[in-house]
Amino acid sequence: MIVASTPSALTAHLAALRTRSATVSFVPTMGNLHAGHLALMQQARQHAEIVVASIFVNPMQFAANEDLATYPRTMEADLAALREAGVDIVFTPDVTDIYPGGSALHTAIHVPVLGDSLCGRDRPGHFDGVCTVVCKLFHMVEPDIAVFGEKDLQQLLIIKQMVSDLGLPVDVQSGATQRAEDGLALSSRNQYLSDAERALAPLLWQTLQDCAQALTAPATSEAERVLKPARDALQHAGFAIDYLELRTLSTLDAVDHVTEDCALFIAARLGRTRLIDNIQILAP
Ligand code: PAJ
Repeated sequence: MIVASTPSALTAHLAALRTRSATVSFVPTMGNLHAGHLALMQQARQHAEIVVASIFVNPMQFAANEDLATYPRTMEADLAALREAGVDIVFTPDVTDIYPGGSALHTAIHVPVLGDSLCGRDRPGHFDGVCTVVCKLFHMVEPDIAVFGEKDLQQLLIIKQMVSDLGLPVDVQSGATQRAEDGLALSSRNQYLSDAERALAPLLWQTLQDCAQALTAPATSEAERVLKPARDALQHAGFAIDYLELRTLSTLDAVDHVTEDCALFIAARLGRTRLIDNIQILAP
């Protein structure tokens, strides 16, 4: 496995490996890798001769009050895991490689509508930072395929929209959410949870499953009649709810019934940790 720590090293190594027929697949990450990230690497491997991963904690997607400084950085363990997963090239740029003049004054890519609701509303500028860095990484890696996790479903939908709007020649694929045995979606931020919070956290996935079942039952009532009590119960259990909503996958508009492909999206805070999850509900 090659570790390319600068854009020019990445370009040189890619040129050496790339043949005319070789497919390149790419998995961008912020590191602190877990089985969710590694499942995306396996998926990338299935579709391509050359697998490129990146590790870059992107300052542009963190607001001033968020956890950029404390975001877990575990480079040595990450590189060992990627080597084990059979990744060919890992790109580990510095902030100055990606944002030579700093991220604050950098051109931003904004995906309207999809980028403005849910986490886009609660974390202003977050998805602009995600889109901008992903677009820059796409230009550096020039992948045929890029793999993103359904764990961050809104992010996945936004990236697909950006790729379509800008005509980027990348096939965006999605990987299923990997979970702990008790159902909690794996996340680098789970380690912020205290033991008591960690014990409570699987209630999010349980709630999503219960609500999805109620919303797909034959004589289903409108979404709010299911979601309001679910929010109340989570709040009572100790969560601070940012949102629990039924939204369409096409526009992220709120809907009362599953008349087209939808998902339940949740973001909730336990102490200082913000957890997100979702469950897709496809139209009958
Ligand atoms: P990060 O949180 O490191 O996630 C990298 C990729 O792993 C994303 O596509 C994310 O959806 C996926 N992922 C995370 N947890 C997962 C799980 N439990 N199961 C399956 N996939 C999972 O998402 C980012 O980084 C950044 O925003 C990034 C796209 C790299 C841009 O900076």
